[in-house]
Amino acid sequence: MVSRGMRSRQLARRAAGLGALTAALLMGRAQAGPVRVPDPLSLEYPGRKAATPARVELGKTLFFDPRLSSSGTVSCATCHKQELGWSDGRRYSVGVSGRPLKRHTPHLLNLAWQKTFFWDGRATSLEEQALGPLENPDELDMPIHTLVPKLEAVPGYRRAFGEAYPGSGITARNVTNAIASFVRTLVSGGAPFDRYQAGEQAAMSPAARRGMDLFYGRAACSTCHSGPHLSDGKFHNTGVPGDDRGRSALDRVGEFQMRPYPFFQTQKAFKTPGLRNVALSAPYMHDGSEPSLLEVVRFYNKGGKEKESYGLALDIRPLNLDEPQIADLVAFLEALTAPVNVTPPDIPGDPTHQKGMP
Ligand code: HEC
Ligand code: HEC
Repeated sequence: MVSRGMRSRQLARRAAGLGALTAALLMGRAQAGPVRVPDPLSLEYPGRKAATPARVELGKTLFFDPRLSSSGTVSCATCHKQELGWSDGRRYSVGVSGRPLKRHTPHLLNLAWQKTFFWDGRATSLEEQALGPLENPDELDMPIHTLVPKLEAVPGYRRAFGEAYPGSGITARNVTNAIASFVRTLVSGGAPFDRYQAGEQAAMSPAARRGMDLFYGRAACSTCHSGPHLSDGKFHNTGVPGDDRGRSALDRVGEFQMRPYPFFQTQKAFKTPGLRNVALSAPYMHDGSEPSLLEVVRFYNKGGKEKESYGLALDIRPLNLDEPQIADLVAFLEALTAPVNVTPPDIPGDPTHQKGMP
């Protein structure tokens, strides 16, 4: 058991860290403090090209351009819609093939600090991740070696790549680097939760404050949803039913010592999603099986749905919260909302975009 004093010290430490986060996000640059949150543009990714405003802008254009799909009708933004918290409101999204995807579309917020991507963490950089939807015949169906010559045929892209990547221009690496650079700028901060941590008492309702105490206390949500982005970046089995083996499908016997998670601990384990703006991106979980935040909290309150599941995380157990406490937790999750909106770009050579590059 954690003593009351220890718990309030922990809460105070967290609060101090989150205050620094808010300040850093508001000021848009790195701050010294318990949680150091650099400007995503200044983050260093060993072996990768650093982001510049020109690369971010180019990545945004690519993200919204349906010419990145074989049908010319689907873009990254088809499934990752900003008005729906960068997800698309469906249980399973549909790309060029019309076949529903096997997993639910996650949001894209505060990924600059994550180390692995996809629900099972199979990509280790956002550059590598971007190749996934491009090559998947059910998503964009546009392998990178087909895409590069297609972009070269558009004068506006030749110019934009020349400016963003002097000397190398349109290459596979630069295409994925530009997209990744844009995704890293999707950062949500300054939510009621952050303003409360920064000392603005009225920013969070009494219900949300009670929910926060449960989240960091009795309900132990913060064992996995930790830190400023509310994710530990690790894989856990929370008792979502189904046949998807999650992380364990990546692990191989004999190879497991190379990996941080031995295969037997990763049965049906999925990456802890960050919870920033989670109120905007229903439905939830890797299979989109929970339609609302209320249902998610009820799911946890029951100790998950697949209680006998092999590898079920120790922290998943019935919480015995009553309905008002469940509502308080939902109010807390809603207090993590600070929408991230971007101005849709001009698509080069697209006549529907008047200001577009030629
Ligand atoms: C047809 C719908 C669809 C399209 C189009 C699509 N995505 Fe996704 N995206 C998904 C789904 C579904 C997942 C989860 C797949 C999984 O985990 O196996 C995902 C996962 C991701 C992730 C990982 C998020 C995390 O938390 O790990 C990122 C980043 C991402 N997509 C970016 C993009 C980019 C960039 C593009 C365009 C190049 C794109 N997506 C196109 C549906 C889509
Ligand atoms: C043992 C680690 C762990 C604990 C404890 C935990 N979570 Fe989660 N949470 C996860 C993982 C892993 C997922 C994704 C599960 C999946 O898709 O199968 C998740 C998913 C979610 C989602 C859905 C997010 C989305 O974008 O789909 C919400 C909301 C959430 N958790 C809130 C909570 C709350 C509230 C609590 C406390 C009552 C809590 N979690 C406790 C690990 C945990």
